[in-house]
Amino acid sequence: MQPLQAPNVGTKYLVYRFGFGHNFSFTHWVANAVCLSEPFMNQNSPSTIVITGASSGIGRELALEMARRGHRLGLTARRMPLLEQLREEIHSTINRDIKVELAILDVCKTDTVGAALHELFVRLDGIDTIVVNAGANDITSIGTSDLENELKLIETNLSGAIATIGAATTHFLARGKGHVVGISSLASLQPISNQAAYCASKAGFSMYLKAARIELRSKGITVTDILPGYIATDIVKGTDISKLPFAIPAAQAARQMARLIEKKVESGVVPAFPWKFVRPFLGHLPERFAHY
Ligand SMILES: NC(=O)c1ccc[n+]([C@@H]2O[C@H](COP(=O)([O-])OP(=O)(O)OC[C@H]3O[C@@H](n4cnc5c(N)ncnc54)[C@H](OP(=O)(O)O)[C@@H]3O)[C@@H](O)[C@H]2O)c1
Repeated sequence: MQPLQAPNVGTKYLVYRFGFGHNFSFTHWVANAVCLSEPFMNQNSPSTIVITGASSGIGRELALEMARRGHRLGLTARRMPLLEQLREEIHSTINRDIKVELAILDVCKTDTVGAALHELFVRLDGIDTIVVNAGANDITSIGTSDLENELKLIETNLSGAIATIGAATTHFLARGKGHVVGISSLASLQPISNQAAYCASKAGFSMYLKAARIELRSKGITVTDILPGYIATDIVKGTDISKLPFAIPAAQAARQMARLIEKKVESGVVPAFPWKFVRPFLGHLPERFAHY
């Protein structure tokens, strides 16, 4: 069992935990308060977790959070220099002894995903969990020259995710256990204007995860579907997501996601507030709420 790091204890812990130190807002505070059940100690023994799309945004922050919780890591993305910087940050600021292996992976090259991940799994002496996080978004208009961009979103968020899950599942079937975590989106439930391809890719991904849960349960494999709302990252070029409703910083999202992953929930929303309460209405909201 790995104790939380010193800054997470007492006053320093509260400053860190409640986000007073960065971008504090009332909604951030409430979002954290909803999750006060987090134990002060990590109740899980360290495991080995592969995170795809770890070079920026949510994946990067989740890698830092999982390292703080004592887990060994395999990190993938296309931009290796960013992964190397991240590994250096983990070793210099969190724990110099934690095992962190890196691999270049373009999930759109679906015929290479299996071999690249298998090689990483071997370097890690086997893995317990894969977080299928690599993803892309863009503002797209139907019936214009955006077709290529729209198809790229489907390729990255759906075909790439399926290839990643397939490779991890081969590994988990051989081990007789494993945990597949998909970072989908609330856009899988709520149609949004100028996001048709993104919404379709995430709806397909979440449905794939639901079907996978049924198929794999008897084989010892757990499947978790995480649906983020607005998380302040650079995923949509030219859009400041931090100004969108109930947006939270990526580090805060990563803490909530880490809890959901360690609890192995079937499905969870991030931030918990207000989306836990709004979730049943998504897909049924008046159209004026459905604009990015
Ligand atoms: N931010 C939000 O508000 C939000 C909301 C709902 C869901 N999500 C989901 O959260 C996930 C992470 O997004 P983010 O907001 O953290 O965005 P981000 O900062 O742009 O990160 C995306 C990550 O995916 C990787 N990636 C993109 N295309 C890839 C490809 N073809 N092959 C391999 N890796 C690829 C990127 O790495 P490289 O470029 O180095 O390959 C990067 O590490 C995505 O699945 C996204 O749909 C985000």
